Amino acid sequence: MRSLNYRYSCVNKNMTKQPLLVLGIESSCDETGIALFGEQGLIADTLYSQVKMHAEYGGVVPELASRDHVRKLLPLIKQCFADANVSAKDLSGVAYTAGPGLVGALFAGISVARSLAYGWRIPSIGVHHMEGHLLAPMLEEKAPNFPFVALLVSGGHTQLIKVSQVGRYELLGESLDDAAGEAFDKTAKLLELGYPGGPALAKCAEQGDPKRFTFPRPMTNRPGLDFSFSGLKTFALTTSQQNTLDQQTRADIARAFEDAVADTLAIKCKRALKQTGINTLVVAGGVSANKRLRSTLNEMCEGLNAQAFYPRHEFCTDNGAMIAYAGYQRLLAGEHDPLHIKARPRWPLSELKTPQSS
Ligand code: KG4
Ligand code: ZN
Repeated sequence: MRSLNYRYSCVNKNMTKQPLLVLGIESSCDETGIALFGEQGLIADTLYSQVKMHAEYGGVVPELASRDHVRKLLPLIKQCFADANVSAKDLSGVAYTAGPGLVGALFAGISVARSLAYGWRIPSIGVHHMEGHLLAPMLEEKAPNFPFVALLVSGGHTQLIKVSQVGRYELLGESLDDAAGEAFDKTAKLLELGYPGGPALAKCAEQGDPKRFTFPRPMTNRPGLDFSFSGLKTFALTTSQQNTLDQQTRADIARAFEDAVADTLAIKCKRALKQTGINTLVVAGGVSANKRLRSTLNEMCEGLNAQAFYPRHEFCTDNGAMIAYAGYQRLLAGEHDPLHIKARPRWPLSELKTPQSS
């Protein structure tokens, strides 16, 4: 990389020559997200969701996802530039999701990001998708201060993490089987609520009677901060088989399931806050959009004199803004990728390091 004469000094903390502006590219699953984040904050953000295409199959089809990212990436980048009235010459770096995620989908974004950065002679940086999620609340006007406890609840992850600063992550607990979002999706499927399951189940639960069924709160009666959600899905299946599955029963099961997930997460978050002595909770990832989860967590935090922070609704699920933000932090510290391309479909968050000037 050294042979390239980067417009790179701009991202060195000690030699700021021009305002730092980073293009962020997210393509780890079924959303193509593009954003521009700079010293003025977030200046543009575009998203294309493949949901309609995958709905026909009841879930994400990896090969279709990769092909669609290839089709959408460049047009969305052009649109993002046009929205912000900037061009490639204004950029100082490209950030992209390097993992975890679907390998083909990741490679689509990585190839475009790395090629553009090479052509534009600017550095690029691979971002951890879950670091993007957990830093997403930083994009809000009222952002949390470090240290905080982060609850990451997405389709692939349910984790409690102690965050001391950007890049310093200590795993406190995680799901031993299904992630919370996965449990939402599978339960929605067995209730025949369609895809994507989480929002569909949440909508259905609004009409549910909270008193008709009571689901267990898994792993809450023993110490520790790990989770297990696969039993709740089985509980929903058994309940649906023991009752006539009409619309009201669906709603009642959905409500009981949602309450059980929200309560379980709140019990573990409370434990994590008490254990760490931290009074700031950050909740991020697709399931953080869930209204019942938010109200349950807010209530728990009030009782503890703690405060909960969430991303705005559209940044709970996958988006380019969180990748641009996380990449900006790392580029600002002088980090950048070597020339070889690497996707990391599996990548533990705890392997990340605090950004350091290279
Ligand atoms: O973070 P995300 O967009 O993708 C991953 O990184 O996995 O999260 C997607 C997950 C899906 O499982 C989806 O059903 C769930 O988030 N989700 C929700 C809601 N919105 C999205 N779950 C419950 N309630 C919601 N409102
Ligand atoms: Zn995600």
